[in-house]
Amino acid sequence: MKFYEIEGGYILRGEIDVSGSKNATLPIIAATLLNEGVSVIKNVPDIRDVKMMCSILRKIGCKITREKDVLIIDATTITSSQIPEDLMREMRSSVIIVGALLGREKECSFTYPGGCEIGSRPINLHLEAFKLMGVDVLEKNGNIECKAENLIGTEIVLDFPSVGATENIMLASVLSDGVTYIKNVAREPEIVCLQDFLNAMGADIKGAGTNTIKIKGVKKLHNTEFSIISDRIEAGTYMCMVAATKGELILNNVCVEHIAAVIHKLRQMNCRVHTYKNKVKLNANRALKATNIKTMPYPGFPTDMQSQFVTMLALAEGTSIIVENIFENRFKYVPELIKMGANITIEGTTAIVQGVDTYSSANVQAKDLRGGAALIEAALAANGLSRIEGIDFVERGYENLVKKLTILGAKIRKQ
Ligand code: UD1
Repeated sequence: MKFYEIEGGYILRGEIDVSGSKNATLPIIAATLLNEGVSVIKNVPDIRDVKMMCSILRKIGCKITREKDVLIIDATTITSSQIPEDLMREMRSSVIIVGALLGREKECSFTYPGGCEIGSRPINLHLEAFKLMGVDVLEKNGNIECKAENLIGTEIVLDFPSVGATENIMLASVLSDGVTYIKNVAREPEIVCLQDFLNAMGADIKGAGTNTIKIKGVKKLHNTEFSIISDRIEAGTYMCMVAATKGELILNNVCVEHIAAVIHKLRQMNCRVHTYKNKVKLNANRALKATNIKTMPYPGFPTDMQSQFVTMLALAEGTSIIVENIFENRFKYVPELIKMGANITIEGTTAIVQGVDTYSSANVQAKDLRGGAALIEAALAANGLSRIEGIDFVERGYENLVKKLTILGAKIRKQ
């Protein structure tokens, strides 16, 4: 099993570029299925989740080439509307392909995604919406078959502003008959990016970024070229890693508006953050202060940044309370942090963090993507040599992590 070896205790300083957004790229790759032609997508991160999504598209007939950060997807011919079981199991977010296949082929079959590292992650909201659009959904022995004569525009009110459900309904509606209104939708920047991509292909969608999206069905889409937004979670992660070592960072290719909640919390913690057009400067050489955090749908504080902040708060003066409101199982990294000397108590979905002076090095195990990033952060701040195992999780979502941290002066090696 591969692992990272990190000699911590060095103050990180320097300048790096943020990569394209993982969570914007995945639904956009799925969206290319709606066009019987070729889509060119730029600023695509080279990470495992993207490779996995491409594997699924290839299995159902697409031809895909990659040159540097550009993906060229030819979806002229689709040979299957079944999502392979092994790939569905490997990557839960592949459920986003269902909406695209329904839109294109009016049918899709797949295995139930089941539980995952960070929580049960049901898809009831996706399936209920498809049913409202006229899709027959047949569930049998963990297998789900969706089929429709025609997808019909309708009004859908989500019980919760789910990112995946919002995206899946958008994909299913683009080529439908009539107009679909989706209310109480997720407002994440990745939803806006998906709307922009679909409209660039000829779709007629309005409202992404607000709480209602209107999709007027069109007959056909056309080829397009499109560039993915930068990854707000990657940006936030490097800010936390650098702040945990009391360092200084210049981040390029950032959309400042997308990380407003993260910047607000860093400032509350006594970090100095200066923002420019597409750039952020962070100076964290003062003592970190405790603060309280509740994870919320965008524009609230993102659940994907919770573990990286808890790791920093464990080194801050005072007591912090962190409430995880989105996924019930997102504190799996905490026992590993405790091995490194953190003082954290978990009560249900709340973490009570009492700051300590420093971490000690240890061998720890990543259990999910963002929790893995948090353990790397702790190891960077700890004196001595740490080993992080389970790095496959981390490589699902961080492009060139070792290279970027090395630029900042970290002593990190992949073994
Ligand atoms: C996406 C992101 C993930 C992020 C999350 C929340 C991608 C690939 N992943 O995941 O990084 O952490 O948004 O910002 O973009 N729920 C239901 N029923 C459903 C769907 C969701 O109950 O049918 C619940 C989930 O259990 C969870 C909450 O809604 O408690 C939010 O989930 P959702 O927004 O759907 O997250 P994902 O799209 O899976």
